[in-house]
Amino acid sequence: MTTLVTGGAGYIGAHVVRLLEQRGERVVVVDDLSTGSASRIGDAVLVKLDVASPEAVGVLTATMREHGVDAVIHFAARKQVGESVERPAYYYQQNVGGLTNVITAMEAATVDRLVFSSSAATYGNPSSAVVEEKLHAEPINPYGETKLIGEWLGRAAARAWGLRFVALRYFNVAGAGWDDLGDPAVLNLVPMVLERLGRGEKPLIFGDDYPTPDGTCIRDYIHVRDLAEAHIAAIDYLGKDERPHDTFNVGTGKGASVREVIDQIGVASGLDATPEIRGRRAGDPAQLVASPDRINEVLGWKAQHSFEEIVASAWSAWQAGPRRIDV
Ligand code: UFG
Repeated sequence: MTTLVTGGAGYIGAHVVRLLEQRGERVVVVDDLSTGSASRIGDAVLVKLDVASPEAVGVLTATMREHGVDAVIHFAARKQVGESVERPAYYYQQNVGGLTNVITAMEAATVDRLVFSSSAATYGNPSSAVVEEKLHAEPINPYGETKLIGEWLGRAAARAWGLRFVALRYFNVAGAGWDDLGDPAVLNLVPMVLERLGRGEKPLIFGDDYPTPDGTCIRDYIHVRDLAEAHIAAIDYLGKDERPHDTFNVGTGKGASVREVIDQIGVASGLDATPEIRGRRAGDPAQLVASPDRINEVLGWKAQHSFEEIVASAWSAWQAGPRRIDV
């Protein structure tokens, strides 16, 4: 079995590459190394390429043929919500254009299994406390739009030529499966808190007047190792005889508030993590928690790691990295 992983040098992709290699499978990573690092992919073959570039279809098709690729996991994309609001055409070009190139090459090389990184951002600002996949998806920013369009494209290719397609809607990914694979970007709550603590500053809470028990936003935090395992389950599912195409939430079904996350970082690190309250950040839904029932049922996947383990592993990887904090 040979799997081509676009974005395999990134935070989530590198976890999946490591799991595939541990299963003894061959892996070809396609990555432009704009945010990822070649040091994270072990013995996998690396093809340096921006999947949204004009030459991508040709290079991807040739790579799939040369290595006898059986399945593709497509991570390579831009993922900053704020940037997507500023630069919508760039996000459509990178995320929709990138996926279009990947599917075009797959059809040319007759590779028919694809797992696609979608996002809870497709739900926008949902009215229900726990979201199910059948809920009408209504993204509220260009990033979420590109992910929803990606799901439509996959579904259309499934109908048109039999692409076997699974979209995984990630909730809030955090932690590290291995100390050398922590989240290198400081864009999300857990690394942002660690970064501030490292500078001797108080962690920030963006809004404590939300309609939630402690007034701070609630999210469904998923351990990156569990998320990586969900991709393995999806690849196995696509190898079965039926011709499936489907969308699954990847979350735990349990929410944690911003305040609880910060408190837990204080517990894991032994540092004083007393927060400072700031105003609300634009576009944040008060609560976003997955119903994981479908993925539990259909893929037999269930999150194994607790909220405490997510935070402890994030701390451990942070301390193993270049921004280690003296305690
Ligand atoms: N927050 C703080 N202080 C910080 C950083 C974040 O209070 O220093 C708050 C945010 O306001 C938000 C919560 O922590 O309420 C989580 O924020 P993140 O930026 O970590 O994550 P988001 O929920 O905004 O978005 C993330 C991904 C998106 C994805 C979404 C799906 O970044 O790509 O999860 O749930 F779409």
